[in-house]
Amino acid sequence: LASIDVDISGIEPGTQLTVKWLGKPVFIRRRTPEEIEAARAVELDDLPDPRAENENLEADADASDANRSIAPFVPEGGEADPASDGEWLVMIGVCTHLGCVPLGDAGDFGGWFCPCHGSHYDTAGRIRQGPAPRNMEIPVAQFTNETTLKLG
Ligand code: FES
Repeated sequence: LASIDVDISGIEPGTQLTVKWLGKPVFIRRRTPEEIEAARAVELDDLPDPRAENENLEADADASDANRSIAPFVPEGGEADPASDGEWLVMIGVCTHLGCVPLGDAGDFGGWFCPCHGSHYDTAGRIRQGPAPRNMEIPVAQFTNETTLKLG
């Protein structure tokens, strides 16, 4: 698979960058503490899709917020900045119903809304209401330094 490097240094908290990768939009969102808190407050039992849908994890990993966000950058011999825990959410920006591109900062759960048939996703990109069957997919991704995210 072709990988690409994305410079994320210009993304402010509460905003997202959409890049095209392998013909699909990828949402790279820098979440606010409120968005992270809202996602972490959700009971797993309330999720229609209980799986993380995260290609970086085992297929049976649960859809907890920790399993949905990308691990922060860890400098060699150092530790990740605790403030960045849960900050980055990276997802294939394709609705799991019939493939429309959901809108950000929209819907009843503060995350994304798919206008095609009304699917609501939360601030961790998990389906909460509507016809979509699965959480938005998290592709293989990792930080290679503080400001570079590698997709693939
Ligand atoms: Fe998103 Fe149908 S394609 S709700």
